[in-house]
Amino acid sequence: MPIFEDHLPALLARHRDRSIAFTTDLASGVTRCEAIFIAVGTPQGDTGAADLSYVEAVVSEIARAISGYKVIVEKSTVPVYTNEWIRRVLHRHGVDPASFDVVSNPEFLREGTAIIDFLHPDRIVVGAANERSADVLRRIYEPLTGGAYYNQPGALPGPCSVEHPAKLLVTSAQSAEIIKHASNAFLALKISFINAVANLAETVDADIEDIAIGMGLDSRIGPRFLRAGLGYGGSCFPKDVAAFHWVAQQRGVNFQLLQEVRKINETQKDIFFNKVLSALWTLRGKRLAALGLAFKGDTDDIRESPAIDLIKRLLEAGATVTAYDPAAMERSKAVLPPSDKLHYASDLYAAAKDADAVLILTDWKEFATIDLVRLNQAVRFPIVIDGRNLYKPQDMFENGFTYVSVGRTASYQAQQGKPRSAVL
Ligand code: UDX
Repeated sequence: MPIFEDHLPALLARHRDRSIAFTTDLASGVTRCEAIFIAVGTPQGDTGAADLSYVEAVVSEIARAISGYKVIVEKSTVPVYTNEWIRRVLHRHGVDPASFDVVSNPEFLREGTAIIDFLHPDRIVVGAANERSADVLRRIYEPLTGGAYYNQPGALPGPCSVEHPAKLLVTSAQSAEIIKHASNAFLALKISFINAVANLAETVDADIEDIAIGMGLDSRIGPRFLRAGLGYGGSCFPKDVAAFHWVAQQRGVNFQLLQEVRKINETQKDIFFNKVLSALWTLRGKRLAALGLAFKGDTDDIRESPAIDLIKRLLEAGATVTAYDPAAMERSKAVLPPSDKLHYASDLYAAAKDADAVLILTDWKEFATIDLVRLNQAVRFPIVIDGRNLYKPQDMFENGFTYVSVGRTASYQAQQGKPRSAVL
């Protein structure tokens, strides 16, 4: 399995060569299928716009192989009007307009929980220009929307059920394309918003965790994606916020808000770096344990990972870093420049050995259940700087740690290792 994704190895083993087959022969795949899902990458180009060259390349190949009516489904995250471009490319290659439809069917799954998100979606969005093509997608998703899947032996449990099956919304292709970009941008906005509030909370001794609970209980706001931290990363949010902003600019629409979302996220990483700096005074020669490399827990993906970004800066500042991540170490070795100041440990306690401070950078469950006594014994100085707010400041303080987190007052041990009352 090329990626770390829960349930995927088991599902693939179960269905391989039965209901799923792999081929490098695109033409034979196209000939045999009624619907063709395009799921190639749409990386960020220099201008912030999505680079659609992979989409164009695959559409040109499809054009050469098309025979009979096909529904071409955009699954990749693409800017509005990509459906129109796909149509134009097919026309240019002389494909009969009656022999295909282009449908937008954006994917909302998250890495790490992709399978459950797919099988138990909040919604399925189908952007189609006519009923014929919408019906093909309705048939494909019928096991989820009709509920039959949830009754099936071996069905993976999740929020949907026979009584509450997945909902499918049919819109125009343009609306579906925008739903995807707008949803990701809105979630990124929620995170930047709570991060900005966290920075304010710190200055007035308020607690961002209580604030997020208090805000999230308002059903109009909701509790999710209100976790303050060291900024969002991953292969989607940074790229999609930039791409959506680019689309708005192209259309002459002022959507400066998206620029602010991005700026707050960048600043959040600087703020965290400065927290490390102010907890340790100087970084040259300091030994730091970095817990987490992935952009979030439950994945080995390090694309746009705030952890990787921070480690690079710490190394540049002369610190020695020992990193540990349950899944992302191999991938990190490929992007972090080899250095005698960068080491990898086989577990978190080994990473923390003789550390001047422990940094929590990824929200792996393993990092939320650390044996604090063992950690305290391992480190040189009991300082934890937590970019994911995985602990209660009081608990850390009682366990003898100086604890710095996000949007909450830092608690400094007056004398390292000996808990006393918190001082600011
Ligand atoms: C995201 C969207 O959630 C998903 O719908 C879309 O299909 C793809 O992009 P993903 O990139 O897998 O999914 O990760 P997600 O769980 O959304 O987290 C993105 C980033 O935001 C991570 O760095 C995460 O740590 C951060 N995050 C998330 C926060 O900082 N706070 C939160 O409350 C939630």
